[in-house]
Amino acid sequence: MQSSQTTHPDHAKPVDRLTADEAAWELSALSERLASANLAYHQDDAPEISDAEFDHLKRRNAEIERRFPELKRPDSLTDQVGAAPVSGFAKITHSMRMLSLGNAFNDDDVRDFEAGIRRFLNLADEADLAFTAEPKIDGLSLSMRYEKGHLVSAATRGDGSVGENVTANARVIDDIPQNLKGSPDVLEVRGEVYMSREDFALLNAMQEQKGAKTFANPRNAAAGSLRQLDVRITSTRPLRFFAYAWGEVSEALADTQMAALERLASLGFSTNPLTRLCRNPSEMMAQYDEIARNRADLDYDIDGVVYKVNDLVLQSRLGFRSTTPRWAIAHKFPAEEAITKLEKIEIQVGRTGALSPVARLTPVTVGGVVVSNATLHNEDYIAGRDSKGDPIRGGIDIREGDWVTVYRAGDVIPKVKDVHLDRRPEEAEPYVFPTICPECGSDAIREPGEAVARCSGALICPAQAVEKLKHFVSRAAFDIEGLGSKQIEAFFEQRWIREPADIFTLQDRHAAGQDQPLQDQEGWGEKSAENLFAAILQKRRIPLNRLIFGLGIRHVGESSAMMLARSYNSWSDFRAAMEAARSHEGPEWDALNDIDGVGSVMAAALVDFFHEDTARAALDRLDALLEVEDVAAPASDGSPVAGKTVVFTGTLEKMTRAEAKARAEALGAKVSGSVSAKTDILVAGPGAGSKLKKAAELGVETLSEDDWLALIGA
Ligand code: IVH
Repeated sequence: MQSSQTTHPDHAKPVDRLTADEAAWELSALSERLASANLAYHQDDAPEISDAEFDHLKRRNAEIERRFPELKRPDSLTDQVGAAPVSGFAKITHSMRMLSLGNAFNDDDVRDFEAGIRRFLNLADEADLAFTAEPKIDGLSLSMRYEKGHLVSAATRGDGSVGENVTANARVIDDIPQNLKGSPDVLEVRGEVYMSREDFALLNAMQEQKGAKTFANPRNAAAGSLRQLDVRITSTRPLRFFAYAWGEVSEALADTQMAALERLASLGFSTNPLTRLCRNPSEMMAQYDEIARNRADLDYDIDGVVYKVNDLVLQSRLGFRSTTPRWAIAHKFPAEEAITKLEKIEIQVGRTGALSPVARLTPVTVGGVVVSNATLHNEDYIAGRDSKGDPIRGGIDIREGDWVTVYRAGDVIPKVKDVHLDRRPEEAEPYVFPTICPECGSDAIREPGEAVARCSGALICPAQAVEKLKHFVSRAAFDIEGLGSKQIEAFFEQRWIREPADIFTLQDRHAAGQDQPLQDQEGWGEKSAENLFAAILQKRRIPLNRLIFGLGIRHVGESSAMMLARSYNSWSDFRAAMEAARSHEGPEWDALNDIDGVGSVMAAALVDFFHEDTARAALDRLDALLEVEDVAAPASDGSPVAGKTVVFTGTLEKMTRAEAKARAEALGAKVSGSVSAKTDILVAGPGAGSKLKKAAELGVETLSEDDWLALIGA
């Protein structure tokens, strides 16, 4: 205990009597104190202060922040403590999101990618459009920030917006320079941390000798080695790094992707030597074949080839969809396969009640990963026909006891591809798909035209409830550290958590002695229980898109949730609009259907969800416990059109409709397809008709394309 340094709350001034100066000073002292205590506890296994004292300090810190919100420090532990002690890593918010890539699986996908870009930019067939092609490294991505040439932080991708602070670990990787000469003032370098196959084999041999855990493949080994709380362990692991992208930069690195890579190389980063410039899809595919031919001889794992538009001006015009850039794509290598025995077919009931058949397999290694389950999709797939009733696999059905070829592509769940009829056991019987839910006994109903059968026991089916809860806490939703699938199952079983609201009342119920204390449960201790409660508390503030996604509404995925959050901005507006659209007609219904990416099926699922009485009551209980953050549209700082609703009509002459829309959205505007009283700006090109008339009637501001471009400063 180092009590001499402690800002002990007992001797401190009451928070309501602090001046702003005193508060700022104390927050700074507390920040240092808490950070050091945190580090001592987690990295050195040598706590400096007692848990109780740590909590005192934390509470005081939070209290001061509540009174002086403007003084809250960017490194505030209030935002980190819940999560940090659990995972041990603080969080870093990426200044520019770290995105993933769309996939191409064959030559047609590559040609479509190129053609789509030409269409978006309205490029003539004969206009140049070059791409870089480089291996897709199978590791984990890392973003390093350099300020005035010094490495100041390094973060994993995390969920794309917020990653883990692994600065100390990055500093011990040889391929990562600590200092750069002649770099821009601010430079974020992004790339892949990986481990060579040889180093991976050596590491596993050593681990085995020590009786320690071995890794399934080089990627897992790289991830496990980088994400070590004890940097000394990371420093013994042979990690490497390829730079292939960048985030924030205070000045452009170059005009082209290729030149930017050369610049990164000249600053001291390793870049991949197999990168080539390709002038058309044929050259891209030739480079793909070339890299595929080299694949086995490389000393590291790759899982495809990444193509990127070479011209950086075009890259910026193309911009991003919600989670992927329009200017790049990953052309994946074909999946790896293996033959094994299908021991049993089991039915899992998902959060929407869908009955999903799963193959339990004799474990087999596929591309370095042990596979013991594979998806069988649905009843028709098992029977050997597609959704239209046409034969697949030559009409051969899948039976328990069959020998099957399984394959896996990337991280997705493995699939069954083929049945080996010559090895089918004589006693094998055709599989009979259940007509009742194996979890709750309700009827499983397959609606005409639907591929899947669904359990009709919505609220009484425990499997649906548990799966909904698992989805609610999943990474793209509430992402509560320490509350994963396993814990949800246990808490559900004990009746501690039966619906989302219960998560947020868990601590109070435990404190009030209504449930057995968590810390007395198997696998839990005082610290882990406390960490869980802190992590839950932290997620009471939740961005709107995460809440919408977490509700687990059918057809609403992560990017639709983001689209909805951006369109409605606030939870109360969103909920009110969904309730107002209940009749499937009227302005709210039309506005919902107008949102890009929301079709009538998703719109109906949304509206029905908010209409259902029991779901609404559960939502009210949840609502009362949360503080939902509005989702600001991206990069809208200082944007003259942030939050405005814009409609484009007529012919645009400077850019395609798609580009105009993407640009407007990137500036925080909402783009709608129809003019209404909510429209702020109509951009009308030649040939505009009824929308122009309607805008005039409603008194909506109308701009020409040039006026619009001038307004957005393009
Ligand atoms: S570019 C905005 N280039 O693949 C685009 N990614 O599936 C940023 N990856 O998260 C990515 N090799 O971890 C890019 N040569 C490469 C890559 C690469 C591997 C990873 C990266 C990314 C993931 C997307």
